[in-house]
Amino acid sequence: MRAVCMIPVLIALVGCGGEPPATDRSRVPAPTLAELSAPYNTADLAKGRELFGKKCGACHFLPADRGNKVGPNLNGLFDRGVASLAEYNYSPALKGFDAAGWTPELVDQWLQSPDSFVPGTSMRLNGITDANERRDLIAHLLIASRQ
Ligand code: HEC
Repeated sequence: MRAVCMIPVLIALVGCGGEPPATDRSRVPAPTLAELSAPYNTADLAKGRELFGKKCGACHFLPADRGNKVGPNLNGLFDRGVASLAEYNYSPALKGFDAAGWTPELVDQWLQSPDSFVPGTSMRLNGITDANERRDLIAHLLIASRQ
């Protein structure tokens, strides 16, 4: 009778249930202004930074190591899904918002009127009606969210 060799098989149970990294932030280098697509390549970055401080900074941090505030950290925004930070408690409305990820165009619509774009969102911001202000802000975000 032939000996049956029982070869032990090691089954590696790999990381089930762990949170996937929301983003590969470190891999996306910050673009320069000239590298941005139109109309963002003609933005006023200093103005965008100032607007961020005035209109967003009370609720959002941009540097990755600062964590969340009232609103979620915005580092890596364009390289991650909508409402994708595991440690932030998003509204059901934003969690249910059906988009593959934030693009400059989506952020542009969001900032015009967060509450009409995603009814039920918990972001309290009067819409930014000036298109140039939104352009400057988004150009700043496109660069600073990758720094
Ligand atoms: C009064 C606080 C507040 C202000 C001011 C504010 N936000 Fe928010 N923001 C929030 C909150 C709260 C959320 C989460 C919304 C939700 O879960 O519905 C959010 C979510 C977001 C998101 C979605 C992030 C994600 O992870 O999907 C973006 C983008 C964003 N804000 C950009 C901005 C920008 C740009 C400004 C400035 C023009 C701004 N916010 C001003 C509170 C604020």
